[in-house]
Amino acid sequence: MNWDAGRFTPPARLAVIGDPIAHSRSPQMHNPALQASGIDAHYIRVQVPVGRVAEAFRQFAACGFLGVNITIPHKFEALDAVDVIDPLARQLGAVNTLAIRDGKLHGYNSDGPGFLRSVKEAFGADVKNLRVLILGAGGGAGRAVAVQCALEGCRSLILANRTLDKAQAVMQEIREIGQTSLLGVVEMDEAHLAYQMTQCDLIVNATSLGMKDGDMRLVPAAALESRHLVFDMVYRAGGETLLLADAKQACAKVVDGLTLLLHQGAISFEHWFGRPAPLDVMRKGLREAVAS
Ligand SMILES: NC(=O)c1ccc[n+]([C@@H]2O[C@H](COP(=O)([O-])OP(=O)(O)OC[C@H]3O[C@@H](n4cnc5c(N)ncnc54)[C@H](OP(=O)(O)O)[C@@H]3O)[C@@H](O)[C@H]2O)c1
Repeated sequence: MNWDAGRFTPPARLAVIGDPIAHSRSPQMHNPALQASGIDAHYIRVQVPVGRVAEAFRQFAACGFLGVNITIPHKFEALDAVDVIDPLARQLGAVNTLAIRDGKLHGYNSDGPGFLRSVKEAFGADVKNLRVLILGAGGGAGRAVAVQCALEGCRSLILANRTLDKAQAVMQEIREIGQTSLLGVVEMDEAHLAYQMTQCDLIVNATSLGMKDGDMRLVPAAALESRHLVFDMVYRAGGETLLLADAKQACAKVVDGLTLLLHQGAISFEHWFGRPAPLDVMRKGLREAVAS
């Protein structure tokens, strides 16, 4: 956990932490936004090992940092490492944004609200009007999206996960929220998914599959229809995931994880600076980062 905030001009005052972290495109999105907004701060990547998130947060605060983004695998550890947890972050079960104000550590979750903004931007739709199928609903991102959909009161919510117990645990939590009446858990096999796809509007991939060549097909391609809205939280540099390729073939509307990265980043910026983020500048930075 070494960084030398002073070697940057302007000085490093924001960071993304994870392990590994070298792949993160967040600096290429946030640095142009900081510059365009006239904010005298640089955004850096810092690799933090598991078990040392609280220590890293204290060091960031001591070095005068304003905020931090938190990515895999630290979003749960971060929940216990902040002084004040935003109620939504508590409900979504993870912290991916830290804002440091007067030495106090405030934890937020921008993945859930970023998901809602992405659906609105890409599909012109509100989640509350949709029947949603989430693949990988037992993982961290899937759980956050599932709870966010339930909080919106989506028309129905089906949770699929390789390890069924995990999806069942998420369903139990969602039952307590009580906004979505049609709620179920299914196995991640072709037959169950093909049936559920006839009953849903929005299909979300929240598994970690799709980044690599050779990753298995998540849903039967023949079950994809032109009326489907397909949201892949995963993004692939220099290509598209198999799910999105299949969905496009079926003339479905699609959105990839880069749009989510953009909107969750914009919401983090809003938490840090209390003003709207320069979305177009951030989008351009991300596109260039992915293209290079
Ligand atoms: N674009 C963005 O801004 C953004 C934001 C958040 C997350 N994400 C992406 O979302 C993905 C999930 O992240 P996470 O934090 O939720 O990770 P996670 O907590 O490790 O969850 C991984 C999920 O993938 C499932 N999975 C893994 N291998 C599988 C396989 N071979 N077959 C079927 N399911 C499999 C897991 O199922 P089990 O429960 O059975 O293990 C679990 O549901 C990652 O690719 C991440 O990059 C993107």
